[in-house]
Amino acid sequence: MSSEQGASPSTITLSMPEADIAVLTLDMQDKGANILSRSVLVELAAHLETLEAQPNLAGVVFISGKPNMFIAGADLREFVASLNAPKEDVIALSKEGQDLFARFTKLPAVSVVAIDGICVGGGAELAVWCDRRIMSDGPKTEIGFPEVKLGLFPGWGGTARTPRIVGLGNAVELVTGGESIDAQAARAMGLVSDIVPAADLLPAAVRLIRIEQQTGQFRKDRQSWAGPIRMSETELGFLGATASAVIQGQTKGQYPAPLAALEVMMGGSMMDIQAACEFEATEFAKLFGSEVNRSLLNIFFLTDRNKKDEGVDDTSLSPESVNSAAVIGAGIMGAGIAAANVKRGISVSLTDANKGALAKGVSNVLTEVSFNKATRQADVDLAVKMAPLINGTVSDAEVAACDVVIEAVVENADVKKSIYKRLEPLLGDNTILASNTSTIPITGLAKDLAHPDRFCGIHFFNPVRKMKLVEVIRGEKTSDQTVVTAVAYAKRLGKFPIVVNDGPGFLVNRLLLPYMNEALELLCEGAEIAVIEKVAKAFGMPMGPITLYDVVGLDTAFYAGRVMWEAFPDRISASPVLPALVKAGRLGQKSGAGFFSYQNPKKKGEFDPEIAKFIDPYKKGDREFDKQEIENRLFLPMLLEATRVLQEKIVRDVRDVDLGLIFGIGFPPFKGGLLHWADRVGAKELLERLKTLESLGARTKPTELLQSMAAEGKTFYSN
Ligand code: NAI
Repeated sequence: MSSEQGASPSTITLSMPEADIAVLTLDMQDKGANILSRSVLVELAAHLETLEAQPNLAGVVFISGKPNMFIAGADLREFVASLNAPKEDVIALSKEGQDLFARFTKLPAVSVVAIDGICVGGGAELAVWCDRRIMSDGPKTEIGFPEVKLGLFPGWGGTARTPRIVGLGNAVELVTGGESIDAQAARAMGLVSDIVPAADLLPAAVRLIRIEQQTGQFRKDRQSWAGPIRMSETELGFLGATASAVIQGQTKGQYPAPLAALEVMMGGSMMDIQAACEFEATEFAKLFGSEVNRSLLNIFFLTDRNKKDEGVDDTSLSPESVNSAAVIGAGIMGAGIAAANVKRGISVSLTDANKGALAKGVSNVLTEVSFNKATRQADVDLAVKMAPLINGTVSDAEVAACDVVIEAVVENADVKKSIYKRLEPLLGDNTILASNTSTIPITGLAKDLAHPDRFCGIHFFNPVRKMKLVEVIRGEKTSDQTVVTAVAYAKRLGKFPIVVNDGPGFLVNRLLLPYMNEALELLCEGAEIAVIEKVAKAFGMPMGPITLYDVVGLDTAFYAGRVMWEAFPDRISASPVLPALVKAGRLGQKSGAGFFSYQNPKKKGEFDPEIAKFIDPYKKGDREFDKQEIENRLFLPMLLEATRVLQEKIVRDVRDVDLGLIFGIGFPPFKGGLLHWADRVGAKELLERLKTLESLGARTKPTELLQSMAAEGKTFYSN
């Protein structure tokens, strides 16, 4: 017997495979993922009402109609629409969800969720409100509470229910860490009762219902999970102190949600479930709509948009398939790019003019791809599996036979062009030729090519394995087809590609250079290295600009700085400090010394008094700087450069600037991106701050765009 009920259009269907077993199947017909939107919750409420009126039911199974997909969470667009809602409304929404799901524990029947695929956020909350959970053994099956990654914690009872089922320690780890766990781990902590093949989920759920009805265990659990958690004060105190220390170390006070989640779970553990839920709702409302919550939601939408964006406006084009890639230059970047391909199953031909460099490059690729994240060691099986995908070669024919050819040799236009000249005649008709250059304009590199339409920049960031950004750079003659293929290829490597127009430094380095340049200016005006670093880190940067110089390499930074200085001499100064250090062989981390010294066994940067010798001769002053002044000096020139980039249409959308900086240089995610941050400060306030830097000239002069935004009360995102 099967019947369809509920609101229209119906996403949850109720069926009765046996006379006393009800099955609720969730399937959002027009969507790839099931999402707990308000309308779905209304439907669920209606179904629960029907089931509550059936006293002879033995059990209710909640399952998804989509293979490999249980529930991907709450509807975040609805969240965004309520960000400015009064706190009482947020608390009410939270309680509504808790009350709705709590009805699963009040049914006369046993409630079981049967999970195949992803079960996160609101979906995991629904799951923990049911009496029992079973999971499929599918590779995509996982359960988790990723809310902290959005600056929140579960607000539909997740923080109250989970510790009662799996114990406070496990729940704290799940909720404050935000990482999902697989079925095995879920079973080990008592979160799920059984793991079965996806096709067997429903019969297994029915079997479980029969057993529960016989033993009556679910009734005992209902009773004990309604009360406080039994734990000694010593245990509680120890757990609180250790978890809080770990969280503070990880979040550095910049992400409040994990600590707030810990406090809610610790506090709630001593109350009955009703009070714990009320506590959760009140505390949830404090995080909802906070600056960090808004910023992290912004990042969610930036990445979501990026996943759907094909890189061009013409949606009729489809990417050419890429099954093989060649990488020319087996250095830091070339080896990193080759490894990224191998990890995604794309075979790679790696070549280098220097045989020693090629051998080292191939060995570096193998080391990287055979690293097993779980054991944190090299894995022989992985190495054996991956090795056939990497071909170290000196044959131009083998290189040219690949679908994409990426050049990553030294940053020298003549060397790069001579390689293109030699290889281009050998390439297939659809092969894309690309450069990984970080600064040299693409249009110029393409000048002598027979097919400049099939040439573009595919600019990876260092280290490739860590940085998710790729800039796909369009030369004047690059075709849309080439862009679409390059974008799809970068996505296949697991990256976020943004399409940018040609120009000095493209997008990310163009915005980074003013920031790094300003750090040197500050040094020469008497600011201390430690103070500059501290301010940048307090702002949220992963490292200060002076450390960044040492990481990038002072020679590389000098070269990139020169390109920018030549392009924008009124705004970028050619600081004499860099060439002085380079001349002395202080190239940064790689040479054991740069601004800092790296002579200790751990190669950790240490202050080196010798550095004064390289700065003092160029000192223009010596005074104290306050924190706000340094912050303004570092970040406002970067912001002004971003407004110029927008004016020049280097990017297709403001959101690409934010995505680029977050995933290319680690701009603080809790600030939501440079322009998101600037919008929260406001154009008028930014102009006020810039006034204090007027004496610095062109590099801090407000741009037309910023001025017009201030005059019209606009924001970057509303533009
Ligand atoms: P690298 O110095 O580590 O490697 C360059 C390799 O190219 C060397 O192994 C060299 O032997 C080889 N090579 C030189 N001339 C060659 C030729 N004619 N044919 C074949 N191989 C040749 O340099 P790295 O850092 O890997 O940079 C490579 C490219 O990537 C440059 O264009 C650089 O601007 C760009 N890039 C560098 C980043 C970085 O942080 N190092 C970041 C993003 C881009």
